[in-house]
Amino acid sequence: MSKKDDIIKERIPRHIAIIMDGNGRWAKKQGLARMFGHRQGVTTVHNITEAAAEIGIEYLTLYAFSTENWNRPKEEVDALMALLVDTIAKETPTLMKNNVKLLTIGDVDRLPKATRDKFLGCIEQTAGNTGLNLVLALSYSSRWEIIEAAKRIAAEVKDGKIAIDEINEAAISEHLTTQGIPDPDLLIRTSGELRISNFLLWQIAYSELYFTDKLWPEFTVEDLYEAIVDYQHRERRFGKTSEQVKS
Ligand code: FPP
Repeated sequence: MSKKDDIIKERIPRHIAIIMDGNGRWAKKQGLARMFGHRQGVTTVHNITEAAAEIGIEYLTLYAFSTENWNRPKEEVDALMALLVDTIAKETPTLMKNNVKLLTIGDVDRLPKATRDKFLGCIEQTAGNTGLNLVLALSYSSRWEIIEAAKRIAAEVKDGKIAIDEINEAAISEHLTTQGIPDPDLLIRTSGELRISNFLLWQIAYSELYFTDKLWPEFTVEDLYEAIVDYQHRERRFGKTSEQVKS
């Protein structure tokens, strides 16, 4: 029996965000180079994206490359950029078949031109799709994004476009790269690490957190269903009491 049968269709999370961790450790366990782990990780991305689209998730955000990942050895950064180009080339037909729209968040201007162009091309090609929004966080970190938002809001105050008193939660959200994307309902992190690593710090204020020991290349569609079922059995109170939520 599949865990999919336990999913309550009326309570599907609108937005799932995932910190895909453990590619390197998975490769090491098999005695392989780290890039084998990243390549296997792409297969997991493919499977999880298809499953998310199929069950009606609206937004799936994947932490594919952080601002801090630029500090990895040059060979790994170059190989990851090449893998991203290759993956987009191979996966665009699958995105079209599954009605998936590609979006990116992050400092995309920092990406090598070939990688950036590939993404922009795929974003354009999938722009008319109306199913799952697949959001790839590329050269992304939450602190970077908050600093950029603060700079832009300060400039708007200086230019008289916004008053200081008008700076509220909505104004901040609208200046983040996730502008227009609902906050995640569920955040999953693989590989047993219990931290957030500079990912969507503003947006996960009320997200449910789910940690699994599975390494990303081992994470299956059944594991995704299990995380969703777990989420559906939690009570989201948003600061209210349990009684208030129930009434
Ligand atoms: C974390 O594993 C993973 C990454 C930094 C990169 C994630 C990239 C992919 C899954 C491939 C490309 C993705 C897309 C969306 C096409 P790690 O290297 O930190 O593993 P470790 O902690 O075990 O060393």
